[in-house]
Amino acid sequence: MKEILTLAIETSCDETSVAVLKNGRNILANIISSQIDTHRVFGGVVPEVASRLHLEMMNKIVDEALVESGVSLIQFDHIAVTCGPGLVGALIVGVSCAKALAFSLDIPLNGVNHMQGHVCANYIAHDDLEPPFVALIVSGGHSYLIEVLDYTDYIIKGETRDDAAGESYDKVARTLGLKYPGGPEIDRLAKEGRSDAIKFPRIMLEHDSYDFSFSGLKTSVLNYINNQNQKGLDIDKKDVAASFQQAVIDVLVEKSFRLLNETDHKTLVLSGGVAANEGLRKALSKRAEKENIKLYYPPRVLCTDNAAMIGCAGYYDFINGKRSDLDLKVYPNLGL
Ligand code: KG4
Ligand code: ZN
Repeated sequence: MKEILTLAIETSCDETSVAVLKNGRNILANIISSQIDTHRVFGGVVPEVASRLHLEMMNKIVDEALVESGVSLIQFDHIAVTCGPGLVGALIVGVSCAKALAFSLDIPLNGVNHMQGHVCANYIAHDDLEPPFVALIVSGGHSYLIEVLDYTDYIIKGETRDDAAGESYDKVARTLGLKYPGGPEIDRLAKEGRSDAIKFPRIMLEHDSYDFSFSGLKTSVLNYINNQNQKGLDIDKKDVAASFQQAVIDVLVEKSFRLLNETDHKTLVLSGGVAANEGLRKALSKRAEKENIKLYYPPRVLCTDNAAMIGCAGYYDFINGKRSDLDLKVYPNLGL
């Protein structure tokens, strides 16, 4: 069978990334240029700055990916690019570059949903993984619990009603005076704190709903910090981090396993930036072992944003006959 070569581009937030994939699951190059150091000064991503930096880096990162993979432009079978969700100006840079390449090389274009890409990171990391399964996607902007029926076929069972899981990590971290992005900082501190030190709410919403809500939890942590400050009492950042993280984990674990039980799937796939969280990985692994569920998660570099995962999602769209037109637009609020 002829091998398929994919050139993939990701610019939805603060990483400019270009990847080259063979047959959807083999990485030949996955160059990631992070803007985090620039945004850290502002405590979060500044959209206008992100767009400008993507523009500055785009062609250079494409070149790097070509050199590292040893593949030349004329060899590609198609181009995959994130078209949403994400920051509008940031997405436009990647999509414009992808359209120009697809047009000039006269090859198909596949606009990819960024969240679908997060799930696909697991196909790259695990050769044996195949649908169907339940997927928990927890990133900086979105949280989803979905049933993956096939490579391009999903049923959304739950999503966030307000803040995403990663967003609540970042906001709590900022209040604790930790650097951006807050997820890895809280993960690190939580290991040294007591997870039962402070009682934060487990917001489960209705028992029969798989939706998430992390805004109330975030407010509860902020109130705790304000109260301690007003009373002139010390705040143990490690205990706050551990107790907050446990409240997030309890909800994610409970809902994921409830859905596994309801659907009878035997595989759980974790993805998105928060999938890098050690506490979450451990809690899911422990429960999975107890309930005889096979758990997959990607290595850290494939948890956070990267073009390889976008290439993998685009590859499955491509071999299933999906094509985007050259007037592909960007969709900042694209749902799964
Ligand atoms: O998926 P991602 O790279 O970007 C989006 O698509 O949003 O996720 C970024 C999010 C940030 O909120 C960051 O704080 C969080 O993932 N994150 C973590 C960890 N590493 C990254 N959250 C908890 N623990 C971590 N170790
Ligand atoms: Zn992401």
